[in-house]
Amino acid sequence: MSEKIFIGVAWPYANSPLHLGHIAGAYLPPDIFARYHRTKGNNVLMVSGSDQHGTPITIRAEQEGKTPAEISSKYHKQFLESWHKLGITFDLFTTTGTENHTRVAQDIFLTLLEKGFIYKETVQQAFCARCQRYLPDRYVEGACPHCRYAGARGDQCDQCGKPLSPEELVDARCGVCGSTPEFKDSEHFFFRLSAFEDKLLQWVKRQKHWRPNVLNFTSRYLEEGLKDRAITRDIDWGGPLPPEIARDYPDKRLYVWFEAVIGYLSASKEWAKNTNDENGWQRFWQGDAKSYYFIGKDNIPFHTLIWPAMLMGYGGLNLPYDVPSNEYLTIEGRKLSSSRNWAVWLPDYLSRYDPDPLRYLLSVNMPETGDTDFSWREFVRRNNDELVATYGNLVQRVLTFVYRRFDGCVPVPTEIDAYSQELLDKTRKTLVTMDGLLYCCRFKEAIKSALALAQEANRYLEEKSPWKMIKENKQAAATALYVALNIISGLKTAFYPFLPFSSQKLQRFLGFESCIEDDGWQLREVPPGQKLLPPEPLFTKLGEEIVAEETARLGKQV
Ligand code: MF3
Ligand code: ZN
Repeated sequence: MSEKIFIGVAWPYANSPLHLGHIAGAYLPPDIFARYHRTKGNNVLMVSGSDQHGTPITIRAEQEGKTPAEISSKYHKQFLESWHKLGITFDLFTTTGTENHTRVAQDIFLTLLEKGFIYKETVQQAFCARCQRYLPDRYVEGACPHCRYAGARGDQCDQCGKPLSPEELVDARCGVCGSTPEFKDSEHFFFRLSAFEDKLLQWVKRQKHWRPNVLNFTSRYLEEGLKDRAITRDIDWGGPLPPEIARDYPDKRLYVWFEAVIGYLSASKEWAKNTNDENGWQRFWQGDAKSYYFIGKDNIPFHTLIWPAMLMGYGGLNLPYDVPSNEYLTIEGRKLSSSRNWAVWLPDYLSRYDPDPLRYLLSVNMPETGDTDFSWREFVRRNNDELVATYGNLVQRVLTFVYRRFDGCVPVPTEIDAYSQELLDKTRKTLVTMDGLLYCCRFKEAIKSALALAQEANRYLEEKSPWKMIKENKQAAATALYVALNIISGLKTAFYPFLPFSSQKLQRFLGFESCIEDDGWQLREVPPGQKLLPPEPLFTKLGEEIVAEETARLGKQV
């Protein structure tokens, strides 16, 4: 029976290019997961979109003298191009600026309001007398009430990761001019998060399959008690309130965090409409469908507590099944920083290199259970030693030899000896092992099993040396090459979720016309006599000089 897998991916703020931290943290893992499930024959819906509201967008717009709409549409286009080049296969990557999203967000707002989970209250809002403006949450800075970190912002503390509201900050100051803001009365809508505390506690306790970092963070946060949260703001760039509410509150908009998470649902509905199956989204949100949310570490509480609470309040939709959030990626041993340009920008990378080597490195080095480091030296080394020398050469040697000496056709085997059988069994076993790992989002271990199989295959070829054997015993050489071609067929499936471009190329060299995803998660036999395509190298060796070139770009102000 095929499973239904919903994959929600964090909505990036459309205010700057993406960097490798984003990719390792939130974008590559869901694509690996989606490709794996599709190959298994499961039904996958993977959605996300540009988060075009929020202070990050308005700050950038102010800096560049553009409108928020101009900024978000510029980066939205760039995101789409990056997904295409890197092979991130969303079923839909939309934006929070669509009419559909507005409608879905308003529906949730009104339903929660009717059920008493949203209420109005007068609060104190930070106003800077010197700047003569109300300050968005992020513009208020001060010390975190939980961990005392001095550089906390009014929306979240970067040190302990807890969401905050501006009035909780100790010694609050205006993030623009540094003066002490006044807190003025303003009426706002609140989401009654506190009402869900017990239900959330019970629910979180049952999530034994969550990663320890996600579970621990969530439990600690819950134990401190949940506060209701303001979900409107006095701003003009943001999701509009339902018309009947907006009449009385024309200057208020939905708070970006309330509205952005709703994107998962609105995007699913938009996708369904696009496929001419208006209700098709329900398959992925109800019943036995499982939903996975791939997000960066700083977004954990929004996906393990706040969004689940909104869903509980709304009713009738599945709660997250898993939130496999990653830790951070450092760059050349240092914390990644956009403002200091200590980052590798995805569009830059893609303008100079192929997608698979990056997907490879970020997979073997994925920050799944702790921070990991990206370095250009390791990038070059792994590309040259592992992709080119171990996997690529294996494929290249076998394919070119067969192509030249066997008329471009798969050799006909005779007797499969025990060693050959062992390798074929190992290939199947590797796929089974990887199946178990990928199913639980253990991507790093999974790709390592694939590489181990490639190493085994190299040993097999060394031992058999069909290029020598062919002189005395053409039949034995033919058999060894047939076996090697079949291990390679298994390898291209094993590597497919991680290295989709090279795997699909290899699929064609092996003489298959299908997409790997349609062949299933199994060793597809390369039948004797099948016509091969003239092979080309799968990967390119990289020169050592790029290490110095690329590291020199880091930290340069542009
Ligand atoms: N744009 C926000 C961020 O990048 C939120 C992304 S996740 C979603 O941190 F919940 F909004 F979808
Ligand atoms: Zn100020």
